[in-house]
Amino acid sequence: MNLASVVQSEQELLLPTYDRQRVLFTRGRGVYLWDSEGKRYLDFLSGLGVNALGHGHRAIQSVLRRQAARLIHVSNLFFHEYQAELAKRLTKISGLDKAFFCNSGTEAWEGALKLARALARVENSNGHKAKWRILALDNSFHGRTFGSLATTGQAKYRHPFAPLVPGVGFVALNDIDDLKRQFDGSVCAICLEIIQGEGGIFPVSAEFLQAARELSQRTGALLILDEIQCGLGRTGKYFAYQQYGVKPDIVTVAKPLAAGLPLGAILTTNRVAGGMHPGMHGTTFGGGPLACAVAIEVLRTVDGLLGHVREMGGYFREKLEALQAKHASIREVRGMGLMLGIDIDSADTAKAAVQQLLDHGILINRTHETVLRFLPPYIIQRKHVDQVIRALDTALASAPAKPGRGFARAGKSAKRSKTQ
Ligand SMILES: Cc1ncc(COP(=O)(O)O)c(C=O)c1O
Repeated sequence: MNLASVVQSEQELLLPTYDRQRVLFTRGRGVYLWDSEGKRYLDFLSGLGVNALGHGHRAIQSVLRRQAARLIHVSNLFFHEYQAELAKRLTKISGLDKAFFCNSGTEAWEGALKLARALARVENSNGHKAKWRILALDNSFHGRTFGSLATTGQAKYRHPFAPLVPGVGFVALNDIDDLKRQFDGSVCAICLEIIQGEGGIFPVSAEFLQAARELSQRTGALLILDEIQCGLGRTGKYFAYQQYGVKPDIVTVAKPLAAGLPLGAILTTNRVAGGMHPGMHGTTFGGGPLACAVAIEVLRTVDGLLGHVREMGGYFREKLEALQAKHASIREVRGMGLMLGIDIDSADTAKAAVQQLLDHGILINRTHETVLRFLPPYIIQRKHVDQVIRALDTALASAPAKPGRGFARAGKSAKRSKTQ
């Protein structure tokens, strides 16, 4: 099958949910992908943060082969060898006590919200009305199912499907006054991404996170962190919250957990686990032996890469900041580790840059209209960063000049310190 016939068949047969780039990928190795014409691409997106170990990783392939030949699925009615082992590793690195395995990010997030409501009921069984309100952040993204949409603070995702799950309020990112205003005794959870990913690479400020932690502790509400994109080593620590020294009540992970097999996890405390009993929550596929065996190998490998992620992240950021000094069209460089973004002063320029890099064999994406997002695999080297920086330099040099650029840039410096 060639690209044209795949495009035509998909147009006839698939729901029109994606606006795909016209590339048909057929294989991958390390930091590279190849398309059906044999063209090579440097992958600085890693399947939206999933392929953290790159493509065709030998240790992953060998676990996959071995486990696929032994046992792929048994259902959660029975035990298998790997859930407890994986839970042991995840609880150890997160400092939490219990795990639940599912199939995707949004499913992990739904489960986290259910845990918060369930615990609130158990802890308010003395006749008082249970806490029920959930606070989430403006501009957040938590997934496509109803609970996740209800806590996603972007109208474009929510609007077509309203009415959504009730009881959710939105707080402005890093606005402690707004948080305090909305945080009362009816709140059972405050939910946030440590770095808003789809929303345009906006890190939460240390002060805001601390305030959320203190308010929730004071009232008995839960602090729920979505580390589906920023977790599992992406920032150079296992969890992005470990960069802030704050511990959540629940954290959700997914994307890189099983190297491309669908696997998500909810990690939480013994207190929160007390709200659940058998039959209250579950999944047919989640946490199967194949995905869990692979995830154990992923964590083993990521352990040896955290220092490298910090080093490459620092190098990449430095280069992006040097590029910002050269190109007035770059308003801001944001992010941590190997989750970085540059905010461009025009959506058209950002769009053209993504296309130009694609033409030159480099994969990145654009989010939030104007933000170029970089989520490379953890195994990149300096030479790969240099290649991307050269391509961005060329792409932005050919961008049309926009009136008033100098003013836009000067006005951004104050905001920048707030979001580091
Ligand atoms: C922060 C965050 N939460 C949740 C999700 C949803 O994950 P999934 O697409 O696996 O359902 C995503 C996906 O991009 C995400 O970035």
